[in-house]
Amino acid sequence: MRTVRSIKTMQNISRELAARGKRIGLVPTMGFLHEGHLSLIRRARKYSDVVIVTIFVNPAQFGPHEDLKKYPRDEKGDLKKIKAAGGDIVFIPKATDIYPEDFETFVDVEKLTKVLEGASRPTHFRGVTTIVAKLFNITRPDVVVFGMKDYQQAEVLRRMTKDLGYPIRFIISPTVREKDGLAMSSRNRYFTPEQRPEALCLYFSLRTAREMVRSGVTDCKKIEKEMRAVIKAASPTAEIDYIAFTDFHTLKPVRIIKAQCVCSLAVKVHGVRLIDNLGLNVPEKSARRAD
Ligand code: PAF
Repeated sequence: MRTVRSIKTMQNISRELAARGKRIGLVPTMGFLHEGHLSLIRRARKYSDVVIVTIFVNPAQFGPHEDLKKYPRDEKGDLKKIKAAGGDIVFIPKATDIYPEDFETFVDVEKLTKVLEGASRPTHFRGVTTIVAKLFNITRPDVVVFGMKDYQQAEVLRRMTKDLGYPIRFIISPTVREKDGLAMSSRNRYFTPEQRPEALCLYFSLRTAREMVRSGVTDCKKIEKEMRAVIKAASPTAEIDYIAFTDFHTLKPVRIIKAQCVCSLAVKVHGVRLIDNLGLNVPEKSARRAD
């Protein structure tokens, strides 16, 4: 496995791989890898000859009061994990190379970014789309894999890929959960062992939503009310940012559960903002591979 830090070197390598007809798979990450990321690498491995994993804690996607400074990092550990999961090249650019002082060009997906996460974090997706477009340009992937855990991010990036005409196969991989259901996230490490059980309030509420839908309830208001009660019971001090029921692809709100619908939520538990989601009445297959 090779580690590359220079943009120029990475560009040369990807150009050469493409010239040799190698299929490049890309997994962009911000590091501090967990099993969720590794599942993306394994998925990319299946569709490519060479898997490039990027590690870059992207300042442009953090708001002024967010956790950029304390975002967890572990480059040495990440490199070991990537190698074991089947990565071939790890690209770790410097922030000053990605965003030199005179940088002023951003990529913006206009509508999909205004709801859910975008409503609470107004500059977040502009940062995500800009860095991912830059990574596409530098690594020239044939296939890219993102996780369903960041479902809106995946849909925004899929739209950008299509709108900008990147010839890239877009794969969304299922959320990987801890044994008790907590969606894996680098931010889970912020919890003390005493606080950690309360982080499950998101998963418990989604499970309630799924059970209600399975028992025939389709009114989103009713489901949301129950979800709020479940969250309160599991974590009395939790602050719910949003609970939303949306169409899988358009992210437009739905009032009655139908096929291709997703319930997403963001909740602050002991100061840590967590997100999670679950497809409701969405056939398992389309939730997994939405390309
Ligand atoms: O999901 C992430 O870790 C980041 O948002 C991404 C896609 C790597 C862009 O920085």
